[in-house]
Amino acid sequence: MEQNIRMMMEKAREAGVKLRPHTKTHRTPKAAKLQVEAGAQGITVAKVGEAEVMAGEGLQDIFIANEIYGESKFLRLRDLNRQVRIAVGVDNREQVEALSRVFAGENKPLDVLIEIETGEERTGVLTGEDALSLARLVTESPGLRLRGIFSHEGHTYGASSPEMCAELFRKSQEDTLTIAEFLRKNGIPVEEVSIGATPSLMHGQILPGITEIRPGTYIYMDAAQGNAIGDYSRCALTILATVISKPTAERVVVDAGVKALTAFTRAQGICHTPGYGLVKGFNDLRLKKLYDEHGIMISAEASSKLKIGDKIEIIPNHACPTCNLYDKIYVIENERVVDEWPILCRGKSQ
Ligand SMILES: Cc1ncc(COP(=O)(O)O)c(C=O)c1O
Repeated sequence: MEQNIRMMMEKAREAGVKLRPHTKTHRTPKAAKLQVEAGAQGITVAKVGEAEVMAGEGLQDIFIANEIYGESKFLRLRDLNRQVRIAVGVDNREQVEALSRVFAGENKPLDVLIEIETGEERTGVLTGEDALSLARLVTESPGLRLRGIFSHEGHTYGASSPEMCAELFRKSQEDTLTIAEFLRKNGIPVEEVSIGATPSLMHGQILPGITEIRPGTYIYMDAAQGNAIGDYSRCALTILATVISKPTAERVVVDAGVKALTAFTRAQGICHTPGYGLVKGFNDLRLKKLYDEHGIMISAEASSKLKIGDKIEIIPNHACPTCNLYDKIYVIENERVVDEWPILCRGKSQ
């Protein structure tokens, strides 16, 4: 984990950009602090609840890279904006108008970044014209300040090759930078151009003009990322499970099912994850089937090597939802538990 933290910090430094790690992956203030101590500018979160916990634990610079909507959430955001440096993503007029109604009377405006959609087909405005019209609305809205724009090249997860991943990344950045330039030409200052995802940053180059990157999963490098980089030795997060049954010569059952690993899989591309988690210490052994509390492996080798009560380490397919299933994480150094970190943002999804 420390190596992963250093590696991404180094990438950011080399490209001359700020690193603002997405902490949705670990949901753990202690991990966020390590990232900031290593040189990150601040952190990214997806939810107001995560921002509240992180701010309460001393994280001072937080970007909620998501579209937040709702009266009670706006009021919580207002409280946060009085305590720490915070910004939020926007991509529609209703949201900007509603935010402005809440922040108009504030001494300190709320920073917002307009999200640009570059291929993930999720949130974000699609054209320069739409970005400009929203940017104008933000600049005219009392209580709001436009910090810049952001995009998330999540579609690079589905790339069929590392080269395609790098190409999708380049295109996504170019589209984002083109919109930044278009806004500037139309008199709108764009201080921040924020981008980022783990597979793209592992395979492609950060273009000049980008000011900030927001990768999240890199800290743990789950099975999907291990597949993408062709190296599972950098996977830092594992679930410890116990062999509880060996009903046949091939079937080995452990006490970790959907509630321990999630049922997340990726069907194709560089982040392809067959099965439900990669078992460490065996040759490409994956959990084949999950029940709520049971994980099933089909392997004569595993059956012959493992006995009831043995423990195995499973690299989860997707670290982010898996961390949300646990109260704490055990920090291991040289095969010894050296600390326990509470996953304090667990369940803080509102
Ligand atoms: C808006 C946004 N930015 C950044 C990230 C980080 O991506 P990754 O976990 O691939 O590093 C995510 C992840 O979902 C995201 O939704």
